Amino acid sequence: MAQLKVGVLISGRGSNLKALLQAGDRPGHPFHIVHVVSNVAGAAGLEFARVHGVPTTVIDHKAYPERAAFDAAVDTALRGAGVGFVCLAGFMRLLSDGFVDGWRDRIVNIHPSLLPAFKGRHPQRQALAAGVSESGCTVHYVRPAMDSGPAIARARVPVLAVDDEASLSARILEAEHRLYPLALELIARGEITVAGECVSRSPAAERALKPLEN
Ligand code: GRF
Repeated sequence: MAQLKVGVLISGRGSNLKALLQAGDRPGHPFHIVHVVSNVAGAAGLEFARVHGVPTTVIDHKAYPERAAFDAAVDTALRGAGVGFVCLAGFMRLLSDGFVDGWRDRIVNIHPSLLPAFKGRHPQRQALAAGVSESGCTVHYVRPAMDSGPAIARARVPVLAVDDEASLSARILEAEHRLYPLALELIARGEITVAGECVSRSPAAERALKPLEN
């Protein structure tokens, strides 16, 4: 199977990008990060890309009065780099329906909650306010509505009585760094597929994901 050429969109810290870069650097790995796009010039995550020798493009959304024109510039950068699959990793811009439809079933996101619970901003704060005893993160295919789209895989973590937003976020983030590379690897191996809104996972994918989902 040909190696999946992945583009990652970031806006900031880039710790999930780092996890994906580290996984994709392994010889013979089924995916490789070939390009990183950031809408923020000073995004810390850009440095991880440089360290791994991955080309980057900064596209400042403020330079584009129209969302569609910004999205078109991102699309051009990705396609020009030979990207075949897109990962959103802390990308803080809503993408237009046209962009999302153009990458349909070839664009995924990670969100720090057990979706469909706690969509949108500050999901960890929402989880604490709701008093839930567990939370986690979800990798999902991207559809036009924010934090929607078929779930691919989840990782669960406990919510402790002593948690504040920072401690819960750190526990979830650690799970994100294990879940995102694994989910992408399983997609690249063809062990996870999507048809319409239905995700199919092979027995091998189920076995691989079980330790994170329990
Ligand atoms: C992560 O919590 C991710 O789930 C959310 O934004 C955060 C990005 O963190 N979408 P990082 O930039 O990958 O460190």
